[in-house]
Amino acid sequence: MKRGKLIYYEGGEGCGKSIQSRLMKDYLIGKGIQVINTREPGGTPLSEKVRGILLDPKSDEVEPWSEVLLFQSSRALLYHNLIIPKLKKGITVQQDRGRDSSIAYQGYGRGGNLDLIKKLNILSTFGYEPDLAFIIDISPEKGLEKQLSADRMSLDGLEFHRKVNKGYLEIAKENPNNYIVIPYIENGLEEMHEMMKFHVDKLFKF
Ligand code: TYD
Repeated sequence: MKRGKLIYYEGGEGCGKSIQSRLMKDYLIGKGIQVINTREPGGTPLSEKVRGILLDPKSDEVEPWSEVLLFQSSRALLYHNLIIPKLKKGITVQQDRGRDSSIAYQGYGRGGNLDLIKKLNILSTFGYEPDLAFIIDISPEKGLEKQLSADRMSLDGLEFHRKVNKGYLEIAKENPNNYIVIPYIENGLEEMHEMMKFHVDKLFKF
């Protein structure tokens, strides 16, 4: 059986990845593709508990490497228990954040060792890589203004989120074949969806 496709939606706070992945899910279902959406951190019962710890503004004793490892442990569970079995059944999986968030936030944002984080990513994804990844490029000023819930990460300052965004653009540069930067367009949900559809159509050869 052909393995399902793995598609990532990434970007800074408030960039609208979640809504875009939902729109794309509807589009793919309309095309007869079996697809599930999931998110990181989270996606399985235990990973959702880890998400609660990670995003709680009261989790103030988290130190940088413990943060990295909590995200990675949530990811390993999600890949092992949900993503890999679905892909093996030929089901497409769309991820609202994935391994690149660790590189952008814990690496570029917090200054964690990039090589080590990339190695941990290989471990926690069991070597699975996205077939296609969208990086939505939003200015941190705009993104933080749009952020609805104040989770622990979005409480970090503008300077931190600037580094995160710079990180995302670096990741896109390092992966020119399957990483696509989509500019955030104010009130441009449909326009952004159209841009993404172009690449999804190519991936599925519609
Ligand atoms: P989420 O609600 O998905 O963010 P958003 O509201 O921007 O969609 O919250 C996830 C937060 O966790 C977000 O601030 C990014 C952060 N994060 C990391 O720092 N590292 C990671 O590896 C992942 C998956 C997320």
